[in-house]
Amino acid sequence: MQQRLITNIHQLINARAQTVLPRGAALASLPVLTNAFLYLEAGRIAAFGNMAEAGAFMQQGVEVVDANGASILPCWCDSHTHTVFAASREEEFVDKIKGLSYADIAAKGGGILNSARKLNAMGEDELYTVALERLNGLIRLGTGAIEIKSGYGLSLEGELKMLRVIKRLKQAVPIPVKATFLGAHAFPQAFKNNHAGYISLITDEMLPAIAAEGLAEHIDVFCEQGFFSPAETEVICKAGAAYGLTPRLHVNQLNSIGGIETGIKLNAMSLDHLEVMTSDDIRLLAGSNTIATLLPSAAFFLRMPYQPARAIIDAGCAVALASDYNPGSSPSGNMGFVVSLACIQMKMLPEEAINAATLSGAYALGLGNQVGSITVGKKANLIFTKPIPSVAYLPYAFGTNLVDKVMIDGNWF
Ligand code: NIG
Ligand code: FE
Repeated sequence: MQQRLITNIHQLINARAQTVLPRGAALASLPVLTNAFLYLEAGRIAAFGNMAEAGAFMQQGVEVVDANGASILPCWCDSHTHTVFAASREEEFVDKIKGLSYADIAAKGGGILNSARKLNAMGEDELYTVALERLNGLIRLGTGAIEIKSGYGLSLEGELKMLRVIKRLKQAVPIPVKATFLGAHAFPQAFKNNHAGYISLITDEMLPAIAAEGLAEHIDVFCEQGFFSPAETEVICKAGAAYGLTPRLHVNQLNSIGGIETGIKLNAMSLDHLEVMTSDDIRLLAGSNTIATLLPSAAFFLRMPYQPARAIIDAGCAVALASDYNPGSSPSGNMGFVVSLACIQMKMLPEEAINAATLSGAYALGLGNQVGSITVGKKANLIFTKPIPSVAYLPYAFGTNLVDKVMIDGNWF
């Protein structure tokens, strides 16, 4: 059994004897141990404490890794991404600079439909190769657990191709990957005037095929004006539930149309985006078991109002942060930047943002007992930082990559 003792850790961040999903004010409590050691066995966290007590673990056969004053935190848990896509969309980025809105671009066949055309034209192996390279890049940036959605196929073959690629990624990388079926991301051109027909394709053809190959754990719908209504969202999620898929939904990105109420009724694990929230939406969410997942880099990139994080946290909600990595609204999966944005633009405290991007993200992935904190028994998925004076320095020094090295299951990545 591989045993590793990590010594001379300046600050061991988010070190907890046990964990629960933080809600409301608890999000601001981020336990930090200064001058610490961390002991790993078989890829898992086995002990941690003050450096003065590290001697007990310096036995024969234990490999000592001197952190040399680095701080260590659990890897980011990115619970909302679209990491599998065929091509970037920087031409739309330029259109937006020239004044077109996200909705304008979608209306002229750009946006999600543009990505769908490119994805359907690409073979599975090439799609896998580009996605793997992207995913490896994210792990090097400190992501140690991730959710990846389909949703750029919008055809039976295209959706299966994406989900098969995600299944191959799960086998290729050492971090946990959760697969979400997002066939209901947009209505494809052929079904523009036949919404019921596309929903039947999802429920009667895509879902049985996905279940037969065991390709997804979760189901997602883009519940939004011009996309899927709350009633359609409900039909799709109920069909998914019959195959054991739990919902995690895109709601309230552009409009509040009842997505929160529907998501809670469906017992969604997580409701994501939440740029546009009424006080009723916030109250409902606070009274539910559903996690509010905020995606500030999408608001940043689209130049839209940020999620009202303060009101959502202060109402007592459970809040996670995720990257929404995708070619249209967030062409970056850099969770360090997401944490900075959360502090700078949404007034989350550094402690809140780091908890939301690690521990709450782990719960949003259904992996609260596996990752997201420095806790005995959890996976040793760890970020070793460059020298930093304090926890607050991480979001403060925005745009600086402070991730020096990454360990996954106790091994250098
Ligand atoms: O989460 N809003 C819906 N889906 C993505 C964007 C997809 C795209 O533009 O390609 C999002 O922001
Ligand atoms: Fe998204």
